This record gives sequence, structure tokens and C-alpha cells, in this order.
Amino acid sequence: MKNYGEIKNLPFKELKGISQKTIDIHWGKLYQGYVKKWQEIMEKLEKIDLTQANATYSEARELKVEQTFAANAVLLHEAYFDILGGDGKPGTEKIIETIARDYDSFDNWLTHFKALGMASRGWVVLAYDFNDGKLRNYIADAHNLYGIWGAAPIVVLDMYEHAYFIDFGSDKKAYIEAYFQNLNWQKIGDKYNKIVGK
Ligand SMILES: [Fe+2]
Repeated sequence: MKNYGEIKNLPFKELKGISQKTIDIHWGKLYQGYVKKWQEIMEKLEKIDLTQANATYSEARELKVEQTFAANAVLLHEAYFDILGGDGKPGTEKIIETIARDYDSFDNWLTHFKALGMASRGWVVLAYDFNDGKLRNYIADAHNLYGIWGAAPIVVLDMYEHAYFIDFGSDKKAYIEAYFQNLNWQKIGDKYNKIVGK
């Protein structure tokens, strides 16, 4: 368990098709910037004047709104980087079976997830929904938009332009393919097992 405001180590050395330049900007500058902002917001929240709380404008309101932006930016980026660096090959992980159960087949899920990559302006997330015990794909157009409470992100794809434009220009499909070739299914499987308590 890490504390808020701690920068995680990059869990891989290099990726196939996604350049070091992209990784340096994405992880080195953007992700780390979000971590610092989350920390700054947490510190400011400790000192706010609660007597001025107001739903049109107040420090309390603005900080709590932007806290969700910074916090989700950190958590989603960590989830994204954490499952990269693999050979892209699914194995015998339990999650593969569960994906097939909830999407009729693994290939059907893949088709859905990739299509959502084309439909999203920010993130695509395969999450385990604790509300009904199912795996489900979601999209988010910003870090703090459209998340479902009680759903834990497992497979996370960053579709912000900063994730692919240097290497693929506007060819989102090529980026999505490269992403899948770099997935570490063993780590994804371990994460799923940890979430569902197996
Ligand atoms: Fe990103």
C-alpha cells in the first residue's frame, strides 16, 4: 500500500511500439505532475475554512471536485502502466475465464474493448463491479467522469492523445493494437485474483 503523494516506480524498462519519448512525457511528467497536485490538494483540504462552504463557489467545493480529477488521474495512470511490459499473450489466468463468462467469449470482449477505445476521449476500463460481481467495460472522457462507485479498474487503456500521438499520429487503432501487444496478463490475472479475494 502506498501513501497518496508517493510516486510509484515505472514497472517496465521499455515497450514495443510505444517510444521512450512518449513514456518519458507520459510517466515522467504527466503522471508525476498529477501525484504532486493530489498531494497539494490533500494539504490544502486540511486548512480550509469550513464556515465558507458553498455550492456555487467555495474553496471546499473546488478542492473536493479537483481532488477527484487528480486522484483518478493518478490511480488510472498507475493501473495503466502497471499492466504493461508483458508479451501480450493471455495464459491460463482465472480472469480470462471470467471475461469469457461475462462477454460470451474472450474475443467478443476484445472486440468490445477495442471499439470503446475508438469511442472514448479519455479512458477505457475493464472493471470488476462489486455491486453484481461482474466484469464490465466502461469509458471515461476525463479522469473524473463516468466512473461507477464500487467498480474496481483492472484492464486500463489511456486514450488521451498524449498516450499515442507522438508514435502513431491520429492512428488510434494502431496504438490500441500496440497496447494489447504489451499487456502483462499474468499481472492482470494477479490483480483480478486480489480484487475478488482468490
Ligand atoms: Fe495519460
